Amino acid sequence: MNDERLHKSLWTVTAPPRNFPVLPGDLDVDVAIIGGGVAGLTTAWLLKRAGKKVAVLEMHRILSGQTGQTTAHLTELLDTPYTALLKDFGDKGAHLAASSSRAAIEQIASTVETLSIDCGFTRVPAFKFAETEAELRDLLHEVAAARRVGLLASFNRSVPLPFPVKGALRVEDQALLHPRAYLLALADRVPGDGSHLFEQSKVVDIHDGTPCRVVTEHGTVTARAVVEATTTPLNRVALHTRLYPYRTYAVAAPLDGPLEPGQYFDSRDPYHYIRTQRVDGVPYVIVGGEDHKVGAHEDTAARFATLEAYARARFPLKRVTHRWSGQVIEPADGLPSIGRNVGSRHVYVATGFSGTGMTFGTLAGMVLSDLILGQENPYAALYAPGRLKPRAGAKDFIQENADVAFRFVADRLSKPDGRHLKDLAPGEGRILEVDGRKVAVYRDDEGTAHAVSPVCTHLGCHVHWNNAERSWDCPCHGGRFSPTGRVLNGPAVSDLPSRKLPVK
Ligand SMILES: Cc1cc2nc3c(=O)[nH]c(=O)nc-3n(C[C@H](O)[C@H](O)[C@H](O)COP(=O)(O)OP(=O)(O)OC[C@H]3O[C@@H](n4cnc5c(N)ncnc54)[C@H](O)[C@@H]3O)c2cc1C
Ligand code: FES
Repeated sequence: MNDERLHKSLWTVTAPPRNFPVLPGDLDVDVAIIGGGVAGLTTAWLLKRAGKKVAVLEMHRILSGQTGQTTAHLTELLDTPYTALLKDFGDKGAHLAASSSRAAIEQIASTVETLSIDCGFTRVPAFKFAETEAELRDLLHEVAAARRVGLLASFNRSVPLPFPVKGALRVEDQALLHPRAYLLALADRVPGDGSHLFEQSKVVDIHDGTPCRVVTEHGTVTARAVVEATTTPLNRVALHTRLYPYRTYAVAAPLDGPLEPGQYFDSRDPYHYIRTQRVDGVPYVIVGGEDHKVGAHEDTAARFATLEAYARARFPLKRVTHRWSGQVIEPADGLPSIGRNVGSRHVYVATGFSGTGMTFGTLAGMVLSDLILGQENPYAALYAPGRLKPRAGAKDFIQENADVAFRFVADRLSKPDGRHLKDLAPGEGRILEVDGRKVAVYRDDEGTAHAVSPVCTHLGCHVHWNNAERSWDCPCHGGRFSPTGRVLNGPAVSDLPSRKLPVK
């Protein structure tokens, strides 16, 4: 596999980047939107269409965050099963969760149509299949729940897969597209008429007020409202206790035999997600999964091997051409937080999208633009960041936060494994003890060692090495840093300080 494709998603390689300018200095707009992923770009586009002057501020290149790494199944099948949503949010809440996902798919469909976007948008069925009798029993409950909340769902024994399954929950009218082609078309329409899109413009501070002030490294943007569309909000401590970062992996391979266009999900925990897509005339199968808590597995590269073996055993393919990974943010109660941040007057957040962030990100644009425009939105109450926690939660709130607390303490107390700087191979990163203190050291391919502090600049957890992506990942709230300590992913906004290594 050539390096260009290694760790770049199929979308990144097949839709070239744009060049948007750096923020040139101070600026005043109606709404400042931080983050150039699906949530930020959709919010920007909808607000601009409604007559607002917006500025999107992206710290790297747009679509270089999780949206660039997505597999973009546009689906009403949420990560939290409808059986759980019915139990935790009642009939009304579960109905709204389903109908809001449908509304997001239709929002994308109508934008593609109105703007004539060439992104391969196709309606397909989705199949969640069972391979064991135990999985089948659970699946039958989910079929009933999906029908109860209004999905066009049925149980099918016959599933168009090239391997035997016990049966599947089939949902009609789900969709596929090339996510980058779709969102670049939205991005192209943001600048102009007093609106702007800036890249390489990192936000380092936000001040709520009238007006709000968004401080970047290149100037301050004043605005009547601010949207934090940064996957996890910047420095919002209370909300962070309800958000848990997981790493997930994907591979793509040209098909070497028939596979009916569609979305397919197995019933394992964690589950695998599969889809088809034709790109530049080549039919691909994309397979994702092998999720784990960020920082829980150092040999992240082994996850690709397992995923590839899963794909090869089930689908007609000769070679894997693309492999990539990213993070999903799991919310404590199973649904995202979209709306005005608790305690803020004019600052809005959109986070906790789980594995269905393409639809939730689109929904974020719909809900937040309505809230900022002072319009009613039928889904705003369900996703309000300050909603009360339901009786039960899809994720164990206490356990997940105990894990964060554990990591905070255990990683500080743990002793590095006694290896020395000289043991570090090119391309490897490791926490070492140097002159009595811990440092995060990476040796580049040319043999030079780079040392940074292992203490995450967000709230002080210790970073872990991710060998597949060559990054320092923080297990607490999903912050990520390059091998030399540059912020890749919020909520951290400051780089890891560099450390001196002894000259030998
Ligand atoms: C492998 C994988 C598969 C997935 N599959 C699916 C799927 O099939 N269906 C689905 O619906 N969802 C899927 N998801 C989830 C979905 O892709 C994400 O939830 C969604 O893309 C998140 O969008 P976002 O706009 O919130 O964040 P992002 O796309 O991460 O955008 C946030 C942006 O904010 C920028 N930023 C952060 N901090 C700052 C700062 N201080 N200043 C300026 N900019 C900043 C970042 O650089 C980034 O570009 C998948 C995710 C992964 C990783
Ligand atoms: S991301 Fe919060 S402590 Fe690192």
